[in-house]
Order: sequence, then structure tokens, then C-alpha cells
Amino acid sequence: MTTPQQPATFTLDGQTVPFEPGQTIMEAATRAGHHVPHLCWHPELGPSGACRLCTVEVDGRQGAACTTRAADGQVVGNRTPELDGRRRLLLQMLFVEGNHFCPSCEKSGDCLLQAEAYEMGMHGPQWEEFYPHRPVDASHPTMWLDLNRCILCKLCVRASHEKDGKDVFAIGGHGIGVHLVVDSPSGRLGDSSFADTDFAARVCPVGAILPKRRGFAVPIGERRFDAAPVSATPTAVLHGGDDDRS
Ligand code: SF4
Ligand code: FES
Repeated sequence: MTTPQQPATFTLDGQTVPFEPGQTIMEAATRAGHHVPHLCWHPELGPSGACRLCTVEVDGRQGAACTTRAADGQVVGNRTPELDGRRRLLLQMLFVEGNHFCPSCEKSGDCLLQAEAYEMGMHGPQWEEFYPHRPVDASHPTMWLDLNRCILCKLCVRASHEKDGKDVFAIGGHGIGVHLVVDSPSGRLGDSSFADTDFAARVCPVGAILPKRRGFAVPIGERRFDAAPVSATPTAVLHGGDDDRS
């Protein structure tokens, strides 16, 4: 039984994690200093359950840590060999279905997709890459939109809606043709109300939305995930955004 002096808790890989009513497993675990691998979760935005990288085992059943509410006495498995193995497969699929050329990407070292892949011990995709034809939208005066790198996490969609009140981005299409769309008469970013000061301008976990004319402001080797693996990176740094890079 839980008393007012005794906070409700669950266990995460055998370690006790306290939580407040209404918190998700992801929120409580992150606040307690644990890393639950993820791509589409951001502490300042509502969850979407888009990427499934955060799938954990809750009392023997699988569920997304970012959408599953914590409950007293839950037994949660997070970094088990089976779950990490599935995460590795999921990451490999993401790398295969887009065009992710890390050595030439400005986001390398700052990219959550790359960081989680390293965290999972992914050395390369085990399937042939799709190399899909996807556009680069350079129409905005200060921001790039490179759909080659988009992993459809919906973070920009939610940020634009929840924080900026603009709804600049949405997800369109079906099946393999699902893609990010921009709300403007031409469909181009430069014709939308998007601004580089928007919250949506700094939440992209990969290099799909990037500021122009800021290449190598932070040298390779000194970037967010160069110093330590993502699991050892404090949340405030992990979700600090590009604007925190000087
Ligand atoms: Fe996510 Fe970036 Fe694609 Fe937006 S552009 S859906 S933030 S990967
Ligand atoms: Fe939970 Fe993406 S972080 S589904």
C-alpha cells in the first residue's frame, strides 16, 4: 500500500523508479535519470507513439513507454537483450528506407537517430538501402527542409501545433508514400508561416530541418553525442535543440 510519505513506484530493469500520478513510464524514468531509447518523444510535447523505439515490457506485455502511464508496482523491462535487439532492427529499417549519409550530414554527432543506433550497437543496415527520391526544400530564407532524412517522427508537426500555434507541418500520403507536407499554397517551406524562431525549428531529431549558413559551428568530435553515449547524456542536453550549440 502506498502512503503519502511513500511515493508510488515501479521497477525499471530491477531499479525502483518513483512517479507522480499521470506520469508516463518515459517521463518518470527520464526524470529518475534512466534512458529509455526513443526518437519521437520530447519532454515539452505531447506523446505520439510514432516511432516505437521506446517499446518496453510492462508486466510481461509490450507497450510504448512514452504513452503508457506508470502504475504502482509495475515491473518494467527496458534494456533487455530482446527489446534492444528489436530496437536495432527498427533503426536498421529507418536507415534503409531514407537517405542517411552520416559522414556528409551537418547533424552528425548531434543526431538522435545516429546516437540511438550507436547505443544499440548497430554497425550497418543488414538490408539493401531503398535510396528513395526525395526533395530538398531550400525555399525558406533561413532554414532547410531535407526530406531525405525525415523519419516521420511528427515532432515538428506537434511542435508547430502545440507550441507555435501554426500547423505548418502535417503527415500526408499512405503506406510507403507517407511523407511530411508543408501547409502553404505551393507546398514549399518558404511560402509558409514557418520562422526560424519557431519551436518546430529546433526539435527535429535528425538533419531534416536545419538552419542555413551554420555549417560546422561546432566541430566534429565536440558535438552533443560525441562526448558520451546517448544513454549517458543528460535530458536537458539531449533535448536542448540546435540553438544550444554555440
Ligand atoms: Fe521528425 Fe524532422 Fe521529419 Fe519533422 S522533419 S517529422 S521533426 S524527422
Ligand atoms: Fe515512444 Fe517514439 S518515443 S513511440
